[in-house]
Amino acid sequence: PLVSTAGLVVPARAARRAVVAFNVITLEHAEAVAAGAERTGLPAILQISENAVRFHGGDLSAVAAATTAVARASTAPLALHLDHVVTPGLVHAAHAAGFDSVMVDASRLDHGDNVKATAEAVRWGHARGMWVEAELGRVGGKDGEPPLDAHAPGARTDPAEAAAYVAETGVDALAVAVGSVHAMTERTAALDHDLIAALREALPVPLVLHGSSGVPDEELRAAVRAGMTKINVGTALNTAYTAAIRAFLAAHPETVDPRRYLAGAREAMAETAARFLTVVAGEGHP
Ligand code: G3H
Ligand code: ZN
Repeated sequence: PLVSTAGLVVPARAARRAVVAFNVITLEHAEAVAAGAERTGLPAILQISENAVRFHGGDLSAVAAATTAVARASTAPLALHLDHVVTPGLVHAAHAAGFDSVMVDASRLDHGDNVKATAEAVRWGHARGMWVEAELGRVGGKDGEPPLDAHAPGARTDPAEAAAYVAETGVDALAVAVGSVHAMTERTAALDHDLIAALREALPVPLVLHGSSGVPDEELRAAVRAGMTKINVGTALNTAYTAAIRAFLAAHPETVDPRRYLAGAREAMAETAARFLTVVAGEGHP
């Protein structure tokens, strides 16, 4: 069934568990995440980024309707979330499409403008019962961004600044920069677990780990133990999807029916989703 993002994430923080959010680009992505959630008996969040909306022509409604229908039809609890929004109008479209949570990404703006834009989105969203995530610090590796060293001084989220930011903006969850980078195709990221624990102490809201595809299983478990509540996974699904298609087409170059290769690609994503769900669910806070 379709459930609310806050309904998954808020109790997870209180119980010191984490919820995995998967980025959906195609219908097969949504079906695969639903299958992974059903196989493991765990809930998940289906999130659509502004970049994915742009890929589908800029209008959220078709991809939102398909994803909503998949969530409704599933036996697993699945929530919907709009991810990395830089265009304020898209928050309004998300509300109209029935989404009850968004991430407003003003992390490219300077600090004052980030606070202003985020606080404005929070005011608008809260008036309509929405749950709003924002980002402080630079996770890096987003589309069109110059490469960023996640270990450089100043790239990480400072706990005192983060506490002030949450108080000023009123956000419901915070994406923090603790060593992960978006779009990694190898799982080699090392996280700062002491910083995660310090942020967990300093902030009254759930912490969100972006760029989790590049984080090894052990590091993910340690991050959950240290206090991460929402684990965002995108690239790992695409790595599995594309590898399956590449292998199928190499072996069957005569294929023209996309269902022949999409079936395997969808199954590879479902297995990947199930693996992340199991790893993250395996560890709560001591
Ligand atoms: O918001 C989306 C996530 O941060 C996904 O990052 O593609 O590196 O796993 P990833
Ligand atoms: Zn992200």
